Amino acid sequence: MEKHANQIEYEKRIGRVLITEQEIKEEIKKAGEKISALYDGRPILLVAILKGSFVFMADLSRAINAPCEVAFMCAQSYFSGTESSGKVNIVMDLDRDVSKYHVVIVEDIVDTGRTLKYLHKLIGDRNPLSLHVVTLLDKKERRVVDFTPDISLFEIPDYFVIGYGLDCDEKYRNLPYIAEYKVNI
Ligand code: IMP
Ligand code: MG
Repeated sequence: MEKHANQIEYEKRIGRVLITEQEIKEEIKKAGEKISALYDGRPILLVAILKGSFVFMADLSRAINAPCEVAFMCAQSYFSGTESSGKVNIVMDLDRDVSKYHVVIVEDIVDTGRTLKYLHKLIGDRNPLSLHVVTLLDKKERRVVDFTPDISLFEIPDYFVIGYGLDCDEKYRNLPYIAEYKVNI
């Protein structure tokens, strides 16, 4: 059977693999051990910033061997394509009071830093017992506001990337690795 035109277009835009499934797995194991040791049994609430961090959250939570709960918040900072709007919009807020928890914000990528700077203050103002940020990817050279995550698994150059939760126009989140997105083909 011939491939559908959508499938051909979809595949053409998947570029070089920057981080393999295996590399992600190894770094998540280390991050999980670090987080488990850091809190040493105290109540952890992992807060995934949707949608990008849903895959990372699923794997990171399973690498933590300490009591932890999960919660979700949906924030939009990109309205379409590969360009940041610079505005953060809370589409869905947390379902609970964070003041009884040591909160760990779980993010897919820190780019300009605007989203996390905003969310860190928003959640911090609700008085969690402590607040840390773990990000899968960090594009340090793109930062426009001052923000440093507590734990960062991979530092990457200024490429637009897809896969492992990260999208371009809502697609490619289901790729099991991180690849470069081909803007020009
Ligand atoms: P920031 O506010 O500029 O730091 O942007 C953070 C958000 O932009 C992330 O949570 C992602 O959803 C999105 N983003 C930034 N860079 C990329 C990328 O290379 N691929 C896909 N999404 C990205
Ligand atoms: Mg995101």
